[in-house]
Amino acid sequence: MLSHQQNNLVTQTGPGTPGGRFLRSYWHPIATAEEMPIGGHPMPIKILSEDLVLFRDDQDRLGLIGLHCAHRATDLSYGRVENGGLRCLYHGWLFDINGKCIDQPAEPEDKKFCHKVKHPSYPVQEYGGVIWTYMGEGEAPLIPAFQYLDCPPEKRIAFRVIQDCNWLQGLESSTDPAHTSYLHRMSPGPLGGLPGSSAAFFAEDTQPRLAIESTSYGCRIYAMRNMNDGKQYLRVNNYIYPCGTTPSGVEPPPAVGYQGRWYVPRDDYSHTRFEFIYQHNGTLDKAFYAKAKGEQVAADGRHIRRASNRYMQDRDEMKRDDTFAGMGRSAPAQDKFAIETAGVIQDRTQEHLGSTDIVIIEVRKALLAAIKQTEETGKAPGLLRDPKQNTFPDFICTADYVRPGEDGTAYCKRVLGQGPDGGPNKVAAE
Ligand code: FES
Ligand SMILES: [Fe+2]
Repeated sequence: MLSHQQNNLVTQTGPGTPGGRFLRSYWHPIATAEEMPIGGHPMPIKILSEDLVLFRDDQDRLGLIGLHCAHRATDLSYGRVENGGLRCLYHGWLFDINGKCIDQPAEPEDKKFCHKVKHPSYPVQEYGGVIWTYMGEGEAPLIPAFQYLDCPPEKRIAFRVIQDCNWLQGLESSTDPAHTSYLHRMSPGPLGGLPGSSAAFFAEDTQPRLAIESTSYGCRIYAMRNMNDGKQYLRVNNYIYPCGTTPSGVEPPPAVGYQGRWYVPRDDYSHTRFEFIYQHNGTLDKAFYAKAKGEQVAADGRHIRRASNRYMQDRDEMKRDDTFAGMGRSAPAQDKFAIETAGVIQDRTQEHLGSTDIVIIEVRKALLAAIKQTEETGKAPGLLRDPKQNTFPDFICTADYVRPGEDGTAYCKRVLGQGPDGGPNKVAAE
């Protein structure tokens, strides 16, 4: 449990808050590349309590500027893309991709005051299948070149969905190895959205042994389960500064890939969950994932299952033991239920943590330490500025059977080639 003050520190994200300064020290995904193709339409973006508009100008250059016109606040996402910028529909003011006001057509020539107008803008770049922005002060760091971002596009697909609660509830659901044996329990067969996978690993041992350790990029998380055939099944997940995770796949070993996620605050009461599905070898079946996602997400960017329809819970589905939660076979929709119903900002002064919350406790400690470091030194942890160092030799995300007597740390050292009998990094091998 956290004190009231600690809960505020880790959940408040607005400009000027310690948590907001920490989060603004990093690049964040704001839209998928598919949402903003060449010639794409301007789209409103809410991030870190700011309303912005992402657009391409008539030369297809990307810009991210304040949503509300600097004149009298009309929504620029409805504007016209022309003459080197985005033109407001109300009185025709024109803004370029850097937020510079370049035309005030209603003003007489001798009365124009473009040069006095300051309009918010942030740098953007496309990388890893999404468009990113940096909202911090000073020189931007590098976007971390994790395997799932730096890979060829045919190995990866990205989605985003809005969830109506504080970002940390999303992150905590994604780092929590114990809940998969309950919330996501379901009868044998595909876990929604994941072909060929099975929830059997979670059902065979509902009391995983958990461990967590620090890494250069955040924390590495281990969950070990005893299988009925005597094997030990290890899942490796990661917390990545500031709001990322990489849950491993749930297919039988060897792992074919994993997911990368970012829980980007829109404000303190909602966040955007970005999800990258990454496959080590071959070509990812993007059409399959796009169809599965399309069936779960409504036009407003939120899951079809939501609080207003009680997450479409079906108690007959529970009685048949088809699923534990009665909310279909999509794990993200089940997670949405769990995190949103904890309140828009979970009151962590009232919770009762158990031994299986060790990961939650340690990630919070890492987060509080990172916020403190940012406040005291002006430098958030894990930022990279040298392209030569933008590699992650200690990164691993997988699910596998370990050798007898091996724990998560020993397993990772071995497969990363860092242990006494270490070989090549088989997880990263193409
Ligand atoms: S409100 Fe945009 S030009 Fe007047
Ligand atoms: Fe989950």
